[in-house]
Amino acid sequence: MRAQSIKKRFGGVTALSGADFDLRSGEVHVLLGSNGCGKSTLCKVISGVVRPDSGTVSVKDQLMEDITPRLSRERGVGVVYQELSLIPGLSVARNILLGMEQANGLGILRDSKNGEALEEIFSDFRGLFPREFSLDTLVQGLSPDLQQLVEIMKVLARDPEILIFDEPTASLSKEQIDLFFGILERLKAKHKGIIFISHKLEEIFRVGDRITIMRGGRHVGCSDLSDITRDEIVNLMVGDIFHSEYRKSSPSGSGKELLGGCGLSGKTIRGIDFSLRQGEILGLGGLQGQGQRSFLLTLFGVEPLQEGQLRREGREVSLRSPKQAMRESLAYISGDRKKYGVFLIRSILENLFVSRVILSRVPLFRRKTLKESAGPVIRDLGLVYDTLDKPVSTLSGGNQQKVIIGRWLLNDPAVILMDDPTKGVDVKTKKDLYELMERMCQAGCSVIWNSSDDQELLQNADRVLVFREGRVIRELQGSDLNEETLYRAALGMDDPAGEGR
Ligand SMILES: Nc1ncnc2c1ncn2[C@@H]1O[C@H](COP(=O)(O)OP(=O)(O)OP(=O)(O)O)[C@@H](O)[C@H]1O
Ligand SMILES: [Mg+2]
Repeated sequence: MRAQSIKKRFGGVTALSGADFDLRSGEVHVLLGSNGCGKSTLCKVISGVVRPDSGTVSVKDQLMEDITPRLSRERGVGVVYQELSLIPGLSVARNILLGMEQANGLGILRDSKNGEALEEIFSDFRGLFPREFSLDTLVQGLSPDLQQLVEIMKVLARDPEILIFDEPTASLSKEQIDLFFGILERLKAKHKGIIFISHKLEEIFRVGDRITIMRGGRHVGCSDLSDITRDEIVNLMVGDIFHSEYRKSSPSGSGKELLGGCGLSGKTIRGIDFSLRQGEILGLGGLQGQGQRSFLLTLFGVEPLQEGQLRREGREVSLRSPKQAMRESLAYISGDRKKYGVFLIRSILENLFVSRVILSRVPLFRRKTLKESAGPVIRDLGLVYDTLDKPVSTLSGGNQQKVIIGRWLLNDPAVILMDDPTKGVDVKTKKDLYELMERMCQAGCSVIWNSSDDQELLQNADRVLVFREGRVIRELQGSDLNEETLYRAALGMDDPAGEGR
């Protein structure tokens, strides 16, 4: 497949400014670039969802004219989009087959032929789904990671020649990612062409054959991955303004306790003691899904606290709902914007102010005042947008994430609970976020930070609580804040009895 000189503007925003891209059979071609550089738009042009202003796309040297989704599909293009596209009220099987039965002219869903093919695809994924799951389960009951796997099955079922995966791994666990990468290897062996978008450099080097780096709507470099280094990639991506060393400088946390707890147990956490001091960043580490998220959700009053006491500046408090938590100046920033984050069809402005509206007794606001008070936060975050009245869905994935962060910053929080907030965020924006957190801490806030990126955690946290099976099995600080110690603790190598502290 070859895309040449693709240009696309949305109102005042230039999404693509002459993008070139080519894909060979049997390769995984990584598409990388900062948030908003046009990756998703390029994929949508190839799949016929977005009509380019100019430029051409050809498959096997045959030009596709006036690309429609249908034409693109017929030429063998299959896409897993960044935003989930499943229909919640339909079963998994129906979602996967949707559109296929039309193409085949079949009236019946899950006829034996499709049914068998489905079962075959599903057999690879079986181990990752709960025991009670079947293909007749409704999509709405599935967590975002399982929905993402269904999206992947859906595209595999169509057996396309060209597969486009737009940040498929953002909401997947390590185990799920391993499985997905195994599937990519098999697709490669079948001479498929694969476009893979991800912001995670480890992944890129692990599965990619070639990489195209985009900046400002066009490609700025293309190379075999074996011929390029991480630093070269990052430099191409952000220009020369970026230096890869960033490190939290101040070993802070000598202030008073802002939030603390003892013996906290809840849905999946057991007997957690912690103390968060003013100005401190407390990291939550360990393998994914060991109770870190549950801990944050319990603090924020989403999951019930079954045992233990919670203290807010020394006072015993009970936070039984997010609203109560918000009244105690807690904020919750989730990286899972698909589930907890944005109201896609509402405007950027509304999304920014929704939590303030919830808190106010008389929720009457003047648009002009809101816009003015949003100004500094938007500048701090470097949000790229057309106007604040446009729906959030018009922003790139990373910019949507910034809106969620901005929403909480506008609430003047004292304690910021962050649940993997940099998921799907590019390196430059990540760095901005780290600096922002640093400034917030200097201004007297504290942060509890759950991250699936160990590097990020080690580089930014003052202390890290390592979770394993719902307990905190180790606390790391000072010289213990290194990958090896974290990894050993996470795997329970220091704690053979698994009994916790
Ligand atoms: N439908 C739309 N209407 C208006 N602007 C849009 C639309 N789709 C994309 N844009 C804008 O075009 C630019 C490119 O967006 P795109 O989604 O392609 O970025 P991306 O590289 O995929 O970023 P990310 O890594 O954040 O997902 C962004 O500034 C985005 O806000
Ligand atoms: Mg995108």
